[in-house]
Amino acid sequence: MTTTVITRIGELVTNDPEREGLLGLVHDAAVVLDGATVAWVGPAADAPAADAQVDAGGRAVIPGFVDSHSHLVFAGDRSAEFEARMTGQPYTAGGIRTTVARTRAASDDQLTSHVARLVAEMRAQGTTTLEIKSGYGLSVHDEARSLAVARQFTEETTFLGAHVVPADTSPEDYVELVTGPMLEAAAPHARWIDVFCEDGAFDVDQARAVLAAGADSGLRGRLHANQLTYGGGVRLACELGLVAVDHCTFLSDADVAALSESGTIATLLPGVEFSTRQPYPDARGLIDAGVRVALASDCNPGSCFTSSMALCIALAVREMRMSPAEALHAATATGAAALDRDDVGVLAPGKAADLVLLEAPSYVHLAYRPGVPLVAGVWQGGRPGLG
Ligand code: NIG
Ligand code: FE
Repeated sequence: MTTTVITRIGELVTNDPEREGLLGLVHDAAVVLDGATVAWVGPAADAPAADAQVDAGGRAVIPGFVDSHSHLVFAGDRSAEFEARMTGQPYTAGGIRTTVARTRAASDDQLTSHVARLVAEMRAQGTTTLEIKSGYGLSVHDEARSLAVARQFTEETTFLGAHVVPADTSPEDYVELVTGPMLEAAAPHARWIDVFCEDGAFDVDQARAVLAAGADSGLRGRLHANQLTYGGGVRLACELGLVAVDHCTFLSDADVAALSESGTIATLLPGVEFSTRQPYPDARGLIDAGVRVALASDCNPGSCFTSSMALCIALAVREMRMSPAEALHAATATGAAALDRDDVGVLAPGKAADLVLLEAPSYVHLAYRPGVPLVAGVWQGGRPGLG
């Protein structure tokens, strides 16, 4: 196995709880990669020799971003819907059906190459672990193939047959399909199951039924909840002890209390509020109430078509009053926790060699220089490259 030492790192973010502060910063640091894992982390002056050496030239290194929420398997374009929104139309769940029609009409190869392009786009921006949902097929065949496409790119695949009820089906019949034949076809390709629990999509009882059926098939639950309205989705996630509940834009005091008591992670997706002109979730209030907060992109053609975790960090800092350190931690270590992963999001011996070299002296530049491409290098499983 080839070893590589990345040396002269001005500021290294480890997220290692054994080190000081939320980010476990090490200054004038080095990291040794041994194949796909991190072998050593510490002061550059003490670094062991390695087969190859990379000079970071005083720049910052962070763990690769863990994007725990994306909907990359789709076809078609909804920029006209975005344009209409920016000139006064509200965002509604119904736009999903437009993408469903385009996705069903696309070939497997078209879907695969589209996902490949988006995954490369994410990687070039520092994302080294990502979750991908289905949810634009909404038929047994199209949900199963969406997941099979997603599986070519990540182990973190999520069955979201319960995204919206398709136009030609009743809600009752559709929930039966999702919990029956569709789940059976999807389960071999998925690790997780998700429901869009919202007015215009699925109510709490339907979400409960879908998650229960998923659990019987060995799929772990996650939930889209409280994105557009107040409702019982977040409390359902907490009651079921789900690892994460996503969006959390409209929260009552009871929702916040349930989150802090259950330990369920609130995954906030500020690109959605940016792209829909909705109010941002109260990240500051959640953190101050002891809730664990993760950040993810929600990259999808409707509510938010960004693949940039750096943008999400900048929005979280500027618009949701997270500190730059909290936002980076939420986009890496807590994103990993939201996928129940402890092998990524942290740079310490034995963890995945997933790291990003920034064209900046400090991680703070991720929020301080919004919109600027700051990724100078990415290693994923020890493999260097941007694409
Ligand atoms: O996470 N909320 C549900 N699903 C996506 C949006 C899907 C769409 O509009 O196409 C989301 O925001
Ligand atoms: Fe989503």
